[in-house]
Amino acid sequence: MARLTALDNAMGDLFSREEAPDRWLAPGALHLPGGATRLGPGSRWLHAWIDAVSARAPFRHMQTPGGQTMSVAMTNAGPLGWVSDRQGYRYSPLDPLSHVPWPPLPPELLELARRGAEAAGFAGFVPDACLINRYEPGARMSLHQDRDEADLNHPIVSLSLGLGAEFLLGGLGRRDPVQRLILHGGDLLVLGGEARLRFHGVAPLKAGAEGEVRFNLTLRRAAP
Ligand code: SIN
Ligand code: FE2
Repeated sequence: MARLTALDNAMGDLFSREEAPDRWLAPGALHLPGGATRLGPGSRWLHAWIDAVSARAPFRHMQTPGGQTMSVAMTNAGPLGWVSDRQGYRYSPLDPLSHVPWPPLPPELLELARRGAEAAGFAGFVPDACLINRYEPGARMSLHQDRDEADLNHPIVSLSLGLGAEFLLGGLGRRDPVQRLILHGGDLLVLGGEARLRFHGVAPLKAGAEGEVRFNLTLRRAAP
């Protein structure tokens, strides 16, 4: 169970994470607290799965097209993986480090993503890519849109693990006001429809118990 944050304490013990209600942040943007447990087999097993993925496709700090090194370490699973380097952002069927396919997506994760998307009104979601982000204290993701996928009618389903983090949800314009919420380990967040191109990001991760990290898995449909 993720450690309590100041926000949870302020809310009192009204809800355990699994009982907190789903919340629409905006049309098409649904936060499902504890969704990994309510809609699937929980998230404990995913730590071992991430270890297995990263044994084949190690976490790496990718370069942005502008030449910056990202603070978040990334790897992928599924038929396609998101990559960034000096040539730009794109999806690739092969890991550029090893030139072999990314590790496969387990059916349990596909099913969880399908159910999360369905809860937000997007039936029949079949992801073909899972970007796995690893945040250590201080790592952040600046505001961006996810727009490298061929068909933006498919939603994106995000699953957070480990340390909680402050997620920023902006609007369709880069300078629009930003909502802030804590994503805890086990939470799902769906961005689809009208919210599919909202800017979003993650504030610098605050240290938790020693050695703790945050992982975020985003399940996407990259090919049409
Ligand atoms: C992302 O936008 O790819 C990651 C979001 C997150 O870490 O919650
Ligand atoms: Fe994103």
